[in-house]
Amino acid sequence: MIKVVNQRFYLHTKNTSYVFEVTCHGHLNQLYFGPKIQENDIEAVRLKHNVALGGNIQIDNKDSTYVLDSLLLEFSSVGKGDYREPSIELIDPITNFNSNFVFDSYEVIDNKPAIEKGLMSKDHPKAMSLIVKLVDLSINQTVFLFYTCYEEFDIITRRLSIKNDSKQEITVTKLMSVTLDLLNRDYTIYNLSGTWARESHRQKRKVSSGTFINQSTTGATSHFFNSGVMLSSLDRENEGISIGFNMVYSGNHYCSIQQHYSNVIRINMGINPSNFHLKLAPNEIFETPEVIISLSNQGNNGVSKNFHDFINQCIVRQPDLLKPIVYNNWEATMFDFNEEKLLRLAKKAKEIGVELFVVDDGWFSNRNNDQSGLGDYHVNKKKFPKGLQSFFGKIKDLDMKCGIWVEPEMVNIDSNLYRTHPEWVIKTPYTQSALGRHQLVLDLSNRLVQDYIIDNVSKLIDDNQIDYIKWDMNRHISDAFGSTLKHQGLFYHEYVLGLYRVLNEIFIPRPQVLLEMCSSGGNRFDLGMLCFATQIWSSDNTDPIERLKIQEGLSYFYPLSSISNHVSISPHPSTLRQTPLSTRFNVSAFGALGYELDLNNVTRVELKEMKDQVDFYKKYRKLLQYGTFYRFDLTKQNCVQWQVTLKDTSIVGYFQKQTNAVEPFEFFKTFGLDEFTIYHFYSKPQRLMIDRFKEHLHHVIPIHLKPSGFVLTQAEKYIAMEDGTVSFFVSGNALNSGIVLNNQFMASGYNKDLRILSDFGSQLYVIEREENE
Ligand code: GLA
Repeated sequence: MIKVVNQRFYLHTKNTSYVFEVTCHGHLNQLYFGPKIQENDIEAVRLKHNVALGGNIQIDNKDSTYVLDSLLLEFSSVGKGDYREPSIELIDPITNFNSNFVFDSYEVIDNKPAIEKGLMSKDHPKAMSLIVKLVDLSINQTVFLFYTCYEEFDIITRRLSIKNDSKQEITVTKLMSVTLDLLNRDYTIYNLSGTWARESHRQKRKVSSGTFINQSTTGATSHFFNSGVMLSSLDRENEGISIGFNMVYSGNHYCSIQQHYSNVIRINMGINPSNFHLKLAPNEIFETPEVIISLSNQGNNGVSKNFHDFINQCIVRQPDLLKPIVYNNWEATMFDFNEEKLLRLAKKAKEIGVELFVVDDGWFSNRNNDQSGLGDYHVNKKKFPKGLQSFFGKIKDLDMKCGIWVEPEMVNIDSNLYRTHPEWVIKTPYTQSALGRHQLVLDLSNRLVQDYIIDNVSKLIDDNQIDYIKWDMNRHISDAFGSTLKHQGLFYHEYVLGLYRVLNEIFIPRPQVLLEMCSSGGNRFDLGMLCFATQIWSSDNTDPIERLKIQEGLSYFYPLSSISNHVSISPHPSTLRQTPLSTRFNVSAFGALGYELDLNNVTRVELKEMKDQVDFYKKYRKLLQYGTFYRFDLTKQNCVQWQVTLKDTSIVGYFQKQTNAVEPFEFFKTFGLDEFTIYHFYSKPQRLMIDRFKEHLHHVIPIHLKPSGFVLTQAEKYIAMEDGTVSFFVSGNALNSGIVLNNQFMASGYNKDLRILSDFGSQLYVIEREENE
């Protein structure tokens, strides 16, 4: 709901209030942003400006307390005494970098104004928007601030545009989508950082005097720093005021959090001003990407829930779509495959219940390694003698859908595409471009290149009736230069807009085609991509213990439905860590599930276990993709717990990273279950493979078997034990306050009730409302 009274703007969502007003000098001064309050609370909660400080700069001779540096500004200019990071930096040919944008007018509308260039979250029947026009008449520039309230989602989105109303070109070197000033509630900053195979690790630090910057400079969102940022007042998952920010953007992003004197902090978020230089001609308009903001007084999980629900309804192409279970051949075969080998894998995948088969890199041209072929998407006849259509026909005969890998933004030097169009790559006029993974980046700021990709990928999909595209992007941009661009200062942004046009033209007319976005794993996990992608590959690292960090990090900002996870081989190549098959599934099940290992190398009993896993996932798919997700602050440092809840059913994953000898008794608490309901609490049945015991099997069975002897090596292939089975009825109240788990195995005897977690063991618990209650 948006209300305006005497130039005071009230933006209310279900649980949040955001209030600002026009000051006597025309600046927009924020009065409150926090949990919902009554309008007459404003005088009490607003910042008080009763005194001027030595050193303050005053623009009003009569009022020494009117100091821009201590107002909570919605938009901050340069030159009148606000010394914090501004919303805008520009260079006017006459007045230099000075500006002073003040209120001109406003409009409240019942929907969401469209964006001309770029992406944005969708309109919604109950969305309401406020547009505030600011002007600087000394330089004839106009800024429009756009606010949209999604009341039921507790989301407010913000962006802005600038229009050059002067008669000469102006240069803008920084233009933030959002400036938000807040009084510091002892906030801890959460952001996600990492690199290839170690993406999205959550980092925490206190806001303190000075400036913290979270940014990308690679041309994409990057695995170095994701664009999502959260502030948490109590540093707790389920308590305290938390505020989350993320951009609907896939390029160089920027967020600074600056603590000034008086404990006021300023958050600026937008396109990274580094390597950004906008030349705006008379009458030209530039629009910044949209930022989504959510505040919750139920801790970080509260913000995550708001983001998840909003993304699932107002960002993605296909809301509520149940994602199919995928098999991908990459980790099983790499480039070394042919039709026969893939069909053998497809049959095994079908046996365990997989629904979609993805042919990964290596199916085209002379692509037998990563040094050639990229750009030439015609089928390799040695690998598929009868062509792709015939192969996919066989996959369809198995009643599976068909997916294929492409990397359309890239080209190898050893390719026909590069030989024909060397001018299509990103390259400065007088130097050689740097290579990454033996490849160059195509210049998506060039419309000819965009058209070429649109035609090629569309044809590939249509000719072969492909159901699923895995779209990869395996290197960062270097040598930024667009041969067809008038102003190079906008290169990175134009690349992103070009990519959006390409994806729009390919996927919007083909709503049935699913898109998995990938960038060497999770190098481009962002809300821009989620406007098109059904899901995003989170990491090439599928070791489940590593994935606990990666998936948990992503869950702060992105819904489980968007996080693509595959069960893969153990020991995993990126860590050489050995993990139980149960844990590989138990982690992957929190999101969009797939399998990615050589199914010819697994035993009969492992295959059976996988089939049961898939059956379980199918039964609870909606819950695991769209339920409300909770992280926990556990005191037990070697454990991680996740909960996902949909209506009366929850699944809780309990994961042990490294074991301690003689593990103490463990409390197990759920969150948010109905206290008066009686629930059936039981462990998902899972097999304990006997090779976990080796020579210690005598603890379990009364006879001694030789660890590498014939009996045991054969038995391992066919037999497994029950693992930590438990089943009882219990109230939501008891579960929320904490029940005690069964003991773990401690080498002092075995019975079926013991939990054998050891290093990297885990269990899924199902909690369902008792039917006959
Ligand atoms: C990237 C992806 C992998 C795989 C390879 C193929 O690394 O992240 O999943 O598709 O490319 O080259």
